[in-house]
Amino acid sequence: MTQVLERAAAAQQYTIRPLGAALGAEVLGLDLAQPVGDELIARMKEALNQHGVLCFRDQDLSEPQQIAFSKLWGPLEDFPEENKTVAAPTVYNVANVSAEGEHLPDTDHRVIFQKVNALWHTDSSYRYIPAYASLLYGIEVLPESAEGGRTGFSSMVAAYEALSPEMKARIEPLHMVHSYEHGRRVYGSLPPLSNFEKNAVPPVSHPLVRVHLDARGRRSLYITANAGNEISGMPLEEGQALHAQLIEHIARPEFCYFHPWKKGDLVVWDNRTTLHKAQRYDMARYRRVLRRTTVAGEGPVFGPYSQAVRAAGY
Ligand SMILES: [Fe+2]
Repeated sequence: MTQVLERAAAAQQYTIRPLGAALGAEVLGLDLAQPVGDELIARMKEALNQHGVLCFRDQDLSEPQQIAFSKLWGPLEDFPEENKTVAAPTVYNVANVSAEGEHLPDTDHRVIFQKVNALWHTDSSYRYIPAYASLLYGIEVLPESAEGGRTGFSSMVAAYEALSPEMKARIEPLHMVHSYEHGRRVYGSLPPLSNFEKNAVPPVSHPLVRVHLDARGRRSLYITANAGNEISGMPLEEGQALHAQLIEHIARPEFCYFHPWKKGDLVVWDNRTTLHKAQRYDMARYRRVLRRTTVAGEGPVFGPYSQAVRAAGY
């Protein structure tokens, strides 16, 4: 029986259509609740490499089904905070609705916590090995008439390529400091991190220029606004000014696509080559429930001076 179902899934026909000029594509015609074979995942990984963001339309996924599909992309990350998840530690609910279905007020720290996501970022950049991909599933979404609530994406490949030669040379050797605790600096009303959380995710530094060995040395910017604003080895103010200049650069509309959510969308993005941000919406007026799973990265961020990159000749 299983083999018959797997063949049926492998034979599923699908269409990929670009959504934005710089990145993003929608995938139509797949039912991800059906068993999905290795070959289809390999093709989807290629498509993700090409488009940065894939939106699988019209899905109907339970939490275990989303976890099962996510694991086909690689091992999952656990969310680093205590007591923030509903069931599995691999699931993070991006919602202003509690597990019991109650619409939470703006002052609830579970809601404030999500406002950190309103800054451009890439998921779990505060880890030594940051995430490969995130999968966010639309369970309850805003009505079409509502303002805001889109998820913005920006292509770090396009943003890097558009930098001036002088800026490319300037950032070539630099690292940014990434710290999970930075969200607490931005939103002081959040409860402080516990020792467990501090020990789980101490600050790390990553190169600002990311070199992708699996894409023939392709380069992208690797930067975030929600996990720090300091550049390793530079005076504080000079580093923060450079960080601000780069964050302004990556927000240019020609690098971006803003996704309006439809119920049943499963949006997958490549955290290695894209940034994203949550656009604000009237949280007191509208309920929204999105469910995220995160696929772990395969290794640390390589920069132009990493041994592995030099050994590969890029
Ligand atoms: Fe995020």
